[in-house]
Amino acid sequence: MFDTITINKDNKPIYDIIFDSTFDMLSKVVNDLNIADRKICVITDSNVCRYHINEVLSVLRENCGKVYSFSFEAGEQSKNLTVIEKMYAFLIEKHFDRNDVVFALGGGVVGDMTGFLAATYLRGIRFVQIPTSLLAMVDSSIGGKTGVDFNGYKNMVGAFHMPSYVCINTSVLKTLPEREFISGFAEIIKHSIIKDREYFDYLKKYSEAALKKDHEALTSIIYKSCLIKKSVVEEDPTEKGIRAFLNFGHTIGHAIEKFSDFKLLHGECVALGSICALYISMKRGLISEKEYNYACDLFAAYKLPVTLNSISHSDIDTIINITKSDKKSDNNTIKFILTGPIGNAFADKSVSDLEMAEAISSLIVIGGSNE
Ligand SMILES: NC(=O)c1ccc[n+]([C@@H]2O[C@H](COP(=O)([O-])OP(=O)(O)OC[C@H]3O[C@@H](n4cnc5c(N)ncnc54)[C@H](O)[C@@H]3O)[C@@H](O)[C@H]2O)c1
Repeated sequence: MFDTITINKDNKPIYDIIFDSTFDMLSKVVNDLNIADRKICVITDSNVCRYHINEVLSVLRENCGKVYSFSFEAGEQSKNLTVIEKMYAFLIEKHFDRNDVVFALGGGVVGDMTGFLAATYLRGIRFVQIPTSLLAMVDSSIGGKTGVDFNGYKNMVGAFHMPSYVCINTSVLKTLPEREFISGFAEIIKHSIIKDREYFDYLKKYSEAALKKDHEALTSIIYKSCLIKKSVVEEDPTEKGIRAFLNFGHTIGHAIEKFSDFKLLHGECVALGSICALYISMKRGLISEKEYNYACDLFAAYKLPVTLNSISHSDIDTIINITKSDKKSDNNTIKFILTGPIGNAFADKSVSDLEMAEAISSLIVIGGSNE
């Protein structure tokens, strides 16, 4: 038996997240989806392909007669419609029909693209998520948000399309580059800040073990974060309300990411954006200075950046201007996510440019570098 979390919609189960330390769970998935006589295409990227495709294909081929794979060059630069068109062509060439299934083996880029492919090919086919980055395990593989970037705008074209299964094999994290691994903890810490004070303390206690990839600590952290993501997406499957809390740290984070020309990783920018949101929350008297410092220490304990160096006043203006082009802004009003005492996030549309500027400046004032 595998550990499982079921995601429901309107109190009805829609898909399971299965946890294991091998790919054996894929046999159960093929069996449950009744696709032994159908076709499967595993979509992956060039890095993940190198390490994990053989094992995945081997388990799938033991259970299904026609298994194909499609790999594209790793990285956000591939997350576009041109690559999706190549995937359509591949599925058409192999005569995939509505009963066939695509599997996403990779990080958030592979998951978002495969989900979008599945949402649009023949007006929708089933897909399975096999997340291989920490971020994809705790965040992007759950909730059915799929999409691609368009004309320089992130995730501008997409659809909600729920996976049929999410299969988390934690052992694949061994091959994930260290910086990507650390980056994933920003979303994990974010989960605790928006929803769960106890989890926040737990993360503090187990930071060393988790960073050393201690199996028990890491699996339990991934499991707890998936439970938080479950509670949020079940309450608000199409992001009309509280799902927006998951954007904590993302308004300024995304802007810093774009400003850095994507040299900083998403999670690193989410850490910096979260510290800004915490700073604004502190300045508004919503959290104490002690809590603010405690939260900054938690990001630092996971080796995430808590300071920014070499940015000027005009850079701060540029970053604030970028926040305005975020697609999450509504009529030019930004829905900023702040927090009351840790674990109590809420949306606020009144955050001013001055508050943002002070928060971004605080990243420099703390001193040091963001090495
Ligand atoms: N759909 C959602 O709800 C949602 C939520 C958050 C982020 N996202 C999206 O997710 C993407 C970021 O995801 P990401 O951080 O996983 O990036 P990614 O998919 O680019 O993966 C990061 C890097 O790690 C490599 N990699 C992944 N797993 C590996 C493994 N086990 N071994 C070796 N290398 C491995 C990848 O090849 C890539 O080079 C962004 O496009 C973002 O928009 C989507």
